[in-house]
Amino acid sequence: MTDTPHRDVQGDTPRRLVVLISGRGSNMQAIVEAAGEPGSGAEVVAVIANTPRAAGLQWAQARGIATAVVPHDAHADRESFDAALAGVIDGHRPDYVLLAGFMRILTPGFVAHFQGRLINIHPSLLPAFPGLHTHRQALQTGVQWHGCSIHFVTPLLDQGPIIAQGTLPVTDADTPGSLAARLLQLEHVLYARVTHWLGQGRVQLLDSGRVLVHGEASRAFLLAADGVVQAGA
Ligand code: GRF
Repeated sequence: MTDTPHRDVQGDTPRRLVVLISGRGSNMQAIVEAAGEPGSGAEVVAVIANTPRAAGLQWAQARGIATAVVPHDAHADRESFDAALAGVIDGHRPDYVLLAGFMRILTPGFVAHFQGRLINIHPSLLPAFPGLHTHRQALQTGVQWHGCSIHFVTPLLDQGPIIAQGTLPVTDADTPGSLAARLLQLEHVLYARVTHWLGQGRVQLLDSGRVLVHGEASRAFLLAADGVVQAGA
């Protein structure tokens, strides 16, 4: 892993983001809206899905964003799907590739190709509960805090240097559905903040595997009764 000093001056040229989705795309919408804010330094140049049924595609198209579908079921294996996907992504010359509810496991070759530029959101406080059904896992385990993590992608599923985490208290009345709904609010706020940090060139991945976000003393967020607060802010 190489230190990636992203603080280089990029002038007025926004950093190019490609967003990958598989479904509804509400996190993608939060990213697009954050990129559209003044001073974000970011532009979503394409939204790409692995299925034409991803509802978020229409939302992106309606906003004039380039969209593409690389159907996973048209490929014989993961390697050929990932090669096709990487080709389409590369055509958009992204600075960063953001996974936003993208439900495919990526090959080590794909991850290596985008090393230091590939970012995921996972609905748990990693390293707890990698994989699927994180809300059910949280309830079954009895944890009193649940959350989400935005992290650089490494070849190990749902692991990698953490850029930001958000947390919320679990209540006795919670169901997987209620937890998912509350957590989604937090996911949107976090991905919007990370979009700004990336656009402003403030995110640095160190050789040690740790992340620095210049100008942010804390990257811990909490969903409180009156909204999302950043620790120490
Ligand atoms: C989010 O909860 C995300 O963390 C998870 O899948 C969900 C996708 O939702 N991986 P959306 O498509 O962004 O609305």
